[in-house]
Amino acid sequence: MSMLSANFGNLAQSCQMVNESAAWGYHLDIMDGVFVPNISYGFPVIEAIATYAKKPLDAHLMTVEPWRYYEQYKKAGIDWLTVHYEACPHLNRDLQEIRRLGMKAGVSINPATPVSVLEQAVYYADLVLIMSVNPGFGGQAFIETSYEKIEQLCRMREEKNLHFLIQVDGGVNDSRAKILYEKGADILVAGSYVFSAKDPAAAILAIS
Ligand code: DX5
Ligand code: ZN
Repeated sequence: MSMLSANFGNLAQSCQMVNESAAWGYHLDIMDGVFVPNISYGFPVIEAIATYAKKPLDAHLMTVEPWRYYEQYKKAGIDWLTVHYEACPHLNRDLQEIRRLGMKAGVSINPATPVSVLEQAVYYADLVLIMSVNPGFGGQAFIETSYEKIEQLCRMREEKNLHFLIQVDGGVNDSRAKILYEKGADILVAGSYVFSAKDPAAAILAIS
């Protein structure tokens, strides 16, 4: 459940809905205005969500130099921390450091980045996030070529006998959910589809 489209004027209410829903956890999109052309929110909001959340907190860092704050994310209550391949020249070190701090380590790739660049990093990852829109904004259209990336990643996971989770983020709605699971996705992230629905909990159920 991406909180980017939540009502920030009433986070407690949004969190209560997510807590009581079928959602796997809270997907927190952190944007710095440098790695992506948008700024979202930082530690005060993460900490506020953490006080209400009764499910895992999953932070998706769309920032340059994410390593400067790994410890602070841990202290803020983050359970799963995902960094971008494109932002980390020493990715294996980053993933190991995130695990050392006691969090699950995730790595994400942009739509234009092929799955093959993760051949070595996946040994250190608990989760791989396929971006199915260009990161930066909620409400964008799903990029259709993301399906083949999920299949490729599934094959890589099988061949290497690894167990990382496959997460897909961007443009997810009920009509795509079934095929995404069929292709091999484990966790779907949705923001605008859920928060624009009349009944957000029912919308979450429809993509779970
Ligand atoms: C985009 C974010 C997504 C976004 C998804 O950069 O990573 O998590 O909130 O929003 P929708 O579901 O509206 O595409
Ligand atoms: Zn995200």
